[in-house]
Amino acid sequence: MTPTASGLRQATAPGGGARRQPAQIEIGRILNVGSSEALISISKTIIRDNKLHLAQIGTILKILTSQSIVVAMVSSLQIGATDNEGENDGCMAKLSILGEITTNPTTRETKFFRGVRTFPVVNEAVYAMSPSDLQLIFARENTACIEIGRLQQDSSIVAKVRTDDMLSKHFAIIGSTGSGKSCTVALVLQSILNANPNGHIVLFDPHNEYSKSFGARAEVITGETLDLPLWMFDFAETSELLTSDIEDQAREEDEILHDVILKAKRLFERANQSSDVSAQVNLDDIEYELQRATHITLDSPVPYRIRDVVKLIDHEMGRLENNSNLQPYKRLKRRIATLISDPRYAFIFRNQAKPKSIQDIMGPIFRLPVNGKPISILDFSSIPSETLNVVVSVVSRLAFELATWSKRKIPILLVCEEAHRYIPRDPSLGFASTRKIISRIAKEGRKYGVSLGIISQRPSELEPSTLSQCSTIFSMRLSNEVDQNFVRSAVPDGAAELLAFLPSLGTAETMVFGEAVNLPMRVLLNNLPEEYRPHSSSASFTKLWTHDTATPQLMHGVYESWKKRSHASDVNLPPQTPHAARPHSVQTQPAPRAVAQQRAGSPGYPAQPHTQGGQAHAQPLTKGQALSDVKRLLNAAFHKEN
Ligand SMILES: Nc1ncnc2c1ncn2[C@@H]1O[C@H](COP(=O)(O)OP(=O)(O)OP(=O)(O)O)[C@@H](O)[C@H]1O
Ligand SMILES: [Mg+2]
Repeated sequence: MTPTASGLRQATAPGGGARRQPAQIEIGRILNVGSSEALISISKTIIRDNKLHLAQIGTILKILTSQSIVVAMVSSLQIGATDNEGENDGCMAKLSILGEITTNPTTRETKFFRGVRTFPVVNEAVYAMSPSDLQLIFARENTACIEIGRLQQDSSIVAKVRTDDMLSKHFAIIGSTGSGKSCTVALVLQSILNANPNGHIVLFDPHNEYSKSFGARAEVITGETLDLPLWMFDFAETSELLTSDIEDQAREEDEILHDVILKAKRLFERANQSSDVSAQVNLDDIEYELQRATHITLDSPVPYRIRDVVKLIDHEMGRLENNSNLQPYKRLKRRIATLISDPRYAFIFRNQAKPKSIQDIMGPIFRLPVNGKPISILDFSSIPSETLNVVVSVVSRLAFELATWSKRKIPILLVCEEAHRYIPRDPSLGFASTRKIISRIAKEGRKYGVSLGIISQRPSELEPSTLSQCSTIFSMRLSNEVDQNFVRSAVPDGAAELLAFLPSLGTAETMVFGEAVNLPMRVLLNNLPEEYRPHSSSASFTKLWTHDTATPQLMHGVYESWKKRSHASDVNLPPQTPHAARPHSVQTQPAPRAVAQQRAGSPGYPAQPHTQGGQAHAQPLTKGQALSDVKRLLNAAFHKEN
């Protein structure tokens, strides 16, 4: 059945046998009107009857014209303005004109369109929208949508976002710290996964926030389980990892690396062909063979072993005639030795003896096959922050390659939490390759089926062209004016006026702009059940300061892991009881029954809790636990349940 717009019926067929419509609530009258804005004076009755909430900022109103219903949103409100009679108790509102509802005279179909053909005139009445008017604008039955919450203006209307429009042209979730971005990420991705159980989503999680947010549907990959060997890095990424920060030195080292990596790849390939990967070879003997042009280039995704690289560096050093040129070789060897001995870099150097195949490396990250876990969470909390950029570059580049070579058969969504960290506005910060690949995905990803979700609390510190490529923006509370201005330039609808009230949005409240919604909408987001909420990054100072959490056992674990990280020491930690290993009275998970009860009341959420992130906290520290375990332990203490 075609929905009817209450106002339009009255406007187009006044009195003429139309169904009886509920009384219209007049909000005010137009004082002046421009091409995209109108100023209205709010009726005294509305003020007197305390109904100003009907015209609060973000509310959608309608103006009846002879041909259509013009739809506009309140973008600012001035209380105490001088009214027509010169008194100062008036109230004015500025409206952004957004679209119109018209009825096709032949088919009698009533539809909402963006843009306006018939403009209202001065003194025309402005009315509140009825639920059926709102339904007409926001209901989208024929297109795949996700439901994220309810309209702030009328909680009977479900807020829907068109999934394909949101994903194909990228989306961004921005807002000040604590405004609810991470919860929105979890809500949005949960809704996508509910409808698309065979998705391919990769979530970059720099703070280990999301490990419990998707339950059994997520493959959580930590620094301990990640396998991203050096041979999957392209030359720029390898160089970023292995060479000095000093430009001149890096240039010398690059030249050596270039040569030895190419040879190491050919060496591996040669050994592989002779099915003797561990062959000890005399490099002098095969030098000529390795130099010959082969199909292998520097960036071919072909394995090589780091020990061959070191061997080749030694070999090159031995051939030098002038000893004063040894320094770059020594620096490279030192850096490689340091990285190999640092457990935080184990994800790059594991399985050296028998490198994994490209399928085995890509499979878990990009969910190939999905195996019931359509999302992988790359928990980067234990990966050194200086390496985070390189890892993001590698994974993003692999996503792009995969999408390109699969000819759009495997669409992938990359969700970048804290995106300002790896695609910063300032080109001298961050890593050029990360910036290049993410902005390439932002510009060309749509053609290949790679989508970006950019999450940031500092949009002004984000590379601006990437943000402007996001055609759907969820803007949460945003108090910083510089950040607001950046959003304004990225907002696609010309609805920039509406951003004025971003500082006043509540937690878990968002404005959604752009391609994936019919009109900008102010949404009260669905409540994310407690057990699926990302860990908040703020510590409970007052709770943790009520008792002494720094037990000798805890501190022993902290210092040992710290030391181990720096010096790769292999220290036996003393046996500890679970009670001693975690601060007194810390509960890391709600009681199982409570979880079950909460979950039972949460349709659409995963059936089983994902225990990897939570239950592990209750275990005693054992030999060989890395800093990340202690971090998790502390995290659990910080975010303990009440
Ligand atoms: N949709 C929601 N459902 C339930 N609680 C929510 C929701 N959105 C926000 N919250 C509450 O607000 C708190 C902060 O939200 P969240 O951690 O998502 O903010 P953030 O913007 O990601 O903060 P930060 O910038 O520090 O990462 C949450 O811990 C939760 O209590
Ligand atoms: Mg967050």
